[in-house]
Amino acid sequence: MRKVLLSNSNSNSVYHVKSPANIALVKYWGKKGRQLPCNPSISFTLKNSYTDLILEVVSDSTFSIELFFEEKRNPAFEKKISNKLQSMFDLLPWLENKKLIIKSTNTFPHSAGIASSAASMSALAWALASFEREQLAIEKSEQEISAYARILSGSACRSLGGPVMLWGKVNEELGSDEYAVKVEEVHEIFNQFEDAILIIDDQPKEVSSTIGHGLMNGHPYRESRYDLARDHTKLMLKALKEGDLNLFGNILEQEALGLHALMMSSDPSFILMKPRTLEIILLLRKYREENDLDCYFTLDAGANLHLLYPAKDKKAVQEFIGKCEIDNILFDTLGPGVQNVD
Ligand code: DP6
Repeated sequence: MRKVLLSNSNSNSVYHVKSPANIALVKYWGKKGRQLPCNPSISFTLKNSYTDLILEVVSDSTFSIELFFEEKRNPAFEKKISNKLQSMFDLLPWLENKKLIIKSTNTFPHSAGIASSAASMSALAWALASFEREQLAIEKSEQEISAYARILSGSACRSLGGPVMLWGKVNEELGSDEYAVKVEEVHEIFNQFEDAILIIDDQPKEVSSTIGHGLMNGHPYRESRYDLARDHTKLMLKALKEGDLNLFGNILEQEALGLHALMMSSDPSFILMKPRTLEIILLLRKYREENDLDCYFTLDAGANLHLLYPAKDKKAVQEFIGKCEIDNILFDTLGPGVQNVD
């Protein structure tokens, strides 16, 4: 990791990290308390879609943030992150007299339908913990760093490791609401898995995830959703362990459509899929049947489709994508999570 002590002060440090986005297989949708999930979720950590973040910590009389996103100062992000970090002074008391200078860029377009907060907030959590370790001799465990990321943005805690992560308590032995853990029992078929992201709509989302989570509070299907998500988590863990792609695809698609069904049936209601999203889903299901493929879709809280498939089906999936006439496609694979940059 690059850690530069600036010449004019030995209290200044620079930390350079890159952290990926992740795509949820079982969705986190609904939260309580200090950003704790109402149900467990599972995700694939991506590799090529990441945030590159440089954090400089400068001693000062009070707490402040200067944030540059894609080389431009960004007051909206500054305010959001500043509020979050001030709410974390109990965990990070040393922040109270520090100025943070954050410079971040993404390898993926802003509106690509990739949850950029997972990548950027996991990178920030890791950089803050690096400062604590190097400058304050405070050694935080992976679980504590994951909890920092969770408080910054729920799904971010799943980006610190990979390729498959679980966040949320499944039973007494497995999972925690406070932090994400790596799913260890994963069949080798998932070592060579890919994600083709079809950008159907590059406009900003109509509803932020934070507002979306809030819509679950009075939702008529709330309790049955959380029960179902718990069942889906167990079934998805089984599919991942056994390499059962039929079960994997079945749960994956039920989760994606279920997430959108929840938004469509909330008050107020939202329709985030576009006609083209639905058209391609129907085409994929037909093509998959005809060509005996293991290619399945999922959606985030937006219109863009993630196609997940094993490398053996790459050629056939590319042929399918060719038929969809989508100009903007990102190809990704699965990765290990956050990394220091030398
Ligand atoms: C649909 O983690 O972005 O992508 O905790 O409010 O920051 P906050 O929300 P966020 O929500 C992600 C929602 C999702 C599903 C998922 O990633 O599990």
